[in-house]
Amino acid sequence: MTARPASHAANLTESRRQFLRYLALSPALACPLFMDGALRKAYAANHSAALQEKSGSPAAITSADQALDVMEFEDLARNALPPAHFAYLATGVDDDATVRLNHNAYQEIEIRSRRLIDVAKLDTSVELFGTKWETPIFLCPISSMKVFDPDGEVAVARAAAKKHHLQMLSTVASCSIEEVTAARGAPVWQQLYPTNDWAVTRALIKRAEAAGSPVLVFTVDHQENANNESIVRARRVDDRECSACHEGGFQGYLRHKPAFAGLDVSKVTMLYDPSFTWDFVKRLKDATQMKLVLKGIVTREDAQIALDHGVDGIVVSNHGGRAEDTLRPTIECLPEVVAAVNGRIPVLVDGGVRRGTDIFKALAFGATAVGFGRPQAWGLAAFGESGVAAVLTILRRELEKIMRQAGTPTVRQIDTSFITHSILTADPKHLDGDPD
Ligand SMILES: Cc1cc2nc3c(=O)[nH]c(=O)nc-3n(C[C@H](O)[C@H](O)[C@H](O)COP(=O)(O)O)c2cc1C
Repeated sequence: MTARPASHAANLTESRRQFLRYLALSPALACPLFMDGALRKAYAANHSAALQEKSGSPAAITSADQALDVMEFEDLARNALPPAHFAYLATGVDDDATVRLNHNAYQEIEIRSRRLIDVAKLDTSVELFGTKWETPIFLCPISSMKVFDPDGEVAVARAAAKKHHLQMLSTVASCSIEEVTAARGAPVWQQLYPTNDWAVTRALIKRAEAAGSPVLVFTVDHQENANNESIVRARRVDDRECSACHEGGFQGYLRHKPAFAGLDVSKVTMLYDPSFTWDFVKRLKDATQMKLVLKGIVTREDAQIALDHGVDGIVVSNHGGRAEDTLRPTIECLPEVVAAVNGRIPVLVDGGVRRGTDIFKALAFGATAVGFGRPQAWGLAAFGESGVAAVLTILRRELEKIMRQAGTPTVRQIDTSFITHSILTADPKHLDGDPD
């Protein structure tokens, strides 16, 4: 008998493989028990992808309350928005590494749950500058929110009002502070991009004061012209004409921002002047009775200087990875800032927060309150006000669940003993508030 050609054996193996793959992928016949390891893996991957496709596809979620977690709103937003608008929301800078790092860093922290603690009653409340909030979860300032829904920041304010959350309003919001305050039914915190014209900056501050804003949040981490490559790439596949809605040039941009309405902005050429130093912080302190919070501090050195300048609070933030790439994730910056501040002023944090467990971990590292940015816009783009409300409901529910599970009936009790992380053991300098 002549030997069969090698190709025949190969053909047989291939036929067998195809037959088994057919079995594996056939819902009626497939049974993982009878498969070899590789096939079982292929089955599992295909099966879970198919399941995810059916159950997790945006089409399967038809109302905001059906979303299981806040991440499900991301795909819904991607589907709802034109590519360039979704990219405006999603983008970081350069390779978007800081965006990913901010979120992924939470996976490096593990929770140490305690047992047999009475958690029947939970107290999730925190206090900030004399105001008590039901939860430590706050809404970060996001610019131009009418990009995501015609009601923009007003829809966010209605959701924040219903769910009783602190809202920060961007200087370049697409709704005015008066409209947003009315919709919130209470003052919001005004975020400040201070411009390079003091007369305009002072007018922005006075307007926030007149609207009853108790806190001015000076963003210190974002200079002009970030390298948002993701937006540029998305524009290549967005066939709409941007100039149909967006007036060209910086002055045109400002004309569409209600905060600047009625102001002479002819000398404003940028929202943040690169020549600013800590003297400008003093200037702001002298210009207003509002509390002054710096948003964008990521080191203990700057936390110490902020204290020296009488700053009232800090938001540990890197602008959601939209300013510099390959930064340390904010959750890893938090411990050294908390140590430097040593309880003297509140330290808030944002960046990559997507789960109640993330909030729990940030609280454990010493945050007074924990904010989120993009998920509010995902919810808004997907379902308007009810989408934002659903995001808030989910985050609060998840926080409450982990507080019960971990054995922490109050926010005050959540401390570093409830987590493990290399920062807590490997590098004590991170926990040392003194600048080198
Ligand atoms: C689309 C978008 C617009 C933003 N606009 C502002 C802004 O106007 N002022 C500001 O201080 N931060 C702004 N941020 C940063 C957020 O306030 C917040 O720091 C960040 O989104 C938190 O990260 P996260 O999106 O991963 O939750 C913006 C972020 C995004 C995604």
